[in-house]
Amino acid sequence: MKTLLLRKPGRKNLTLSDRPVPEPGPGQVLVRIRAFSLNYRDLLTLEGGYGSAQKQSDLIPFSDGAGEVAAIGEGVTAFRPGERVIGNFFQSWISGPPTMAHFASALGGPIDGVGAEYCLFPEHGLVRTPAHLSDEEAAALPCAGLTAWSAVVEQGNLRPGNSILVQGTGGVSLFAFQFAKLLGARVCATSSSDEKLQRLKAMGADALINYRETAKWGRAAVKANGDRPFDHIVEVGGRDTLNESLKAIRPGGSLSLIGVLSGTDVNLRLPFVVMANIRLQGITVGPRLHFENMLRAMADNDLHPVIDRVFDLDELDAALDRMAAGRHFGKICVRMN
Ligand SMILES: NC(=O)c1ccc[n+]([C@@H]2O[C@H](COP(=O)([O-])OP(=O)(O)OC[C@H]3O[C@@H](n4cnc5c(N)ncnc54)[C@H](OP(=O)(O)O)[C@@H]3O)[C@@H](O)[C@H]2O)c1
Repeated sequence: MKTLLLRKPGRKNLTLSDRPVPEPGPGQVLVRIRAFSLNYRDLLTLEGGYGSAQKQSDLIPFSDGAGEVAAIGEGVTAFRPGERVIGNFFQSWISGPPTMAHFASALGGPIDGVGAEYCLFPEHGLVRTPAHLSDEEAAALPCAGLTAWSAVVEQGNLRPGNSILVQGTGGVSLFAFQFAKLLGARVCATSSSDEKLQRLKAMGADALINYRETAKWGRAAVKANGDRPFDHIVEVGGRDTLNESLKAIRPGGSLSLIGVLSGTDVNLRLPFVVMANIRLQGITVGPRLHFENMLRAMADNDLHPVIDRVFDLDELDAALDRMAAGRHFGKICVRMN
């Protein structure tokens, strides 16, 4: 079977190898992967960006894959051959608070991921694909989708009548946009591109900010939101955005700390947080239980992820380049054909 292998850190060390199809052991499910999607995290992983926290040699990269059950091992009762499934990002985090052991079970980093024609999963590491989604759409969900769902719904408790700000038009932010709209909240979205802002408007954005033109956008965003500071902000920028977010959040509001696209080290004015009673909540994807909640909500509301483009496997380099250049709007998927 075709298998992507990162022989050692460095994207140039990513090879397409031929490996035998594995046999499912007791409690295991063999999945024929039909598609996987890219996350910003994959760009880091390919360069060895997670250091000793990632498998150092012969890593099968990529965390988000979907396909169908090819075979089941002894004792598997939850799935049958032919059923369409998605891998859960943290294989062992089923529900409840996270542990370091759960974090060590992330696909495509600490352990092998989904960049192969066939992958083995423990029975508890899979969920069923909702019928309304294609395999490419299903593959878009595990990391970015569940992270946004955790931020907006499970941790954020966003409600109708609330307002939320989402940053940029990458995977996490567009899912957060869609979930917030589903809940009936007002959404302000930022982007570096006027063309992407037009697309956000067509998706129903209530306010828009070009963060390239307005680098200090915190107060401008509040103004654009009818002089209402935001109840919730989904933070993916890090260094260049956190202090702007703190200017835009209402007293008692919630900031979901998710990404560090502009840098990791922030000079934080603590009184902004303390005196305004702000909640800073780190988000780390989420457990399978919340993934299942999200999938049910998507099915009930016929919600589809925003797919930027689907590439074939032999175009993987172009797909990675597109993500690295930030040209995408939503999720980039790769068809495993
Ligand atoms: N904590 C977690 O569990 C978790 C899970 C998933 C992702 N993440 C992190 O979240 C971040 C986003 O991940 P992703 O997969 O959604 O990435 P992505 O799809 O690659 O998103 C990239 C987009 O973010 C926007 N962006 C870049 N710099 C920005 C800035 N300074 N301010 C505002 N927007 C900016 C740009 O949008 P425009 O082109 O519109 O400007 C860019 O196209 C990454 O740091 C990732 O590592 C964390």
